[in-house]
Amino acid sequence: MDEKKREFVTKEDICTHYGDEYDRHLGAIVPPIFQNTLFTRKTMNHGYTYTRVSNPTTEIAEKKIAALEEGEEARCFSSGMAAITAALMHVLEKDCHIVCPSNVYPPTRGFLETYMSKFGVETTFVTGESLSEIEQALRPETKAIYLETPLSNLFTLQDLRAVADIARAKGIVTIVDNTWATPLYQNPIALGIDIVVHSATKYMGGHSDILAGVMIGRQSVMDEITHRERGMFGAAMDPHQAWLLIRGLRTLPVRMRQHQESAMKAAAFLESHPMVQRVFYPGLESHPQYELGRSQMSGYSGLFSFVPKGNREQITGFMKSLKLFEEGPSWGGFESLINSPGLWLDEEASARTGIPQGLVRLSIGLENTDSLLADLDDALHRMKRF
Ligand SMILES: Cc1ncc(COP(=O)(O)O)c(C=O)c1O
Repeated sequence: MDEKKREFVTKEDICTHYGDEYDRHLGAIVPPIFQNTLFTRKTMNHGYTYTRVSNPTTEIAEKKIAALEEGEEARCFSSGMAAITAALMHVLEKDCHIVCPSNVYPPTRGFLETYMSKFGVETTFVTGESLSEIEQALRPETKAIYLETPLSNLFTLQDLRAVADIARAKGIVTIVDNTWATPLYQNPIALGIDIVVHSATKYMGGHSDILAGVMIGRQSVMDEITHRERGMFGAAMDPHQAWLLIRGLRTLPVRMRQHQESAMKAAAFLESHPMVQRVFYPGLESHPQYELGRSQMSGYSGLFSFVPKGNREQITGFMKSLKLFEEGPSWGGFESLINSPGLWLDEEASARTGIPQGLVRLSIGLENTDSLLADLDDALHRMKRF
């Protein structure tokens, strides 16, 4: 850690002040948005040229996130998928091989399966739950292991330290989607992972008003990506988006504390509810990988899933009866959401994906915890009537 970073020893301090450089911006407590595409240089050699390459506002977000993730440098992208595809395109080569959990975020899976296959890249999909399964999947031409832990449907984990050790010994690059845990609760680079990616659209932005992505890793790699995958594909973050991301980061620690507290209570409440079959949340002691979770995460976020005891009509009725949970696909914002990844699965699809029929996913927002629990309880009891 350099001298400047040492002053900001806590994640809260990094989120609130690190990288803001008040002296550089006339003491403004909120640094300005540099909403410009080019930087002239006749009178001043400041190092900036064009916003697709670098921008002072975007750099503030990048400095904060690199420090939070305990990585050397970060680069911001226009969305999480832009960061994910840039990382994969950077690491993968023609005719190489990659290992990836099968229940990874579906567009990431789609990118490997249907897009990278155009370049002869083969993917072995694994559950990710056992180390030997990952080891057995490796080939001489394996270039990368892509992880997402916890996975955002059944919330199973992959062992970051162990996978990083195996990969490093074989010269394989490791990439982790760390969106669920956020850099507050899990730091894969400190555990030996090479590259971390995030959808900052979720908790980091936190207000469901920006699409944003970020990648963190070694400075040499980030510099190459600046000019190649970000510079050439062009999916750089817009300065206004970066400014909103910085605003989201300032309150990330207090928001995450609340998401965690409410989600813990909601998951425990549902686990003992007579109308619930099973809950999938790494923060519950009943989670099969609870100990692994404790060894690599320092906290839990607000997204989890469960299976209500009911048929398709009853579960649909339960979802419609909820008053505080809107129905929607994203997560990590201030608002509570419900989504139904398992509701329309037939038996074959359920067996193939491992996702139980009837599985619903909750993103626990920042509403009052007791009100959320009461809403869930009320809607579960109404379920019998449908
Ligand atoms: C786990 C995970 N990773 C990545 C993404 C993609 O992020 P974005 O929507 O910002 O492109 C998502 C989006 O839902 C996600 O859930």
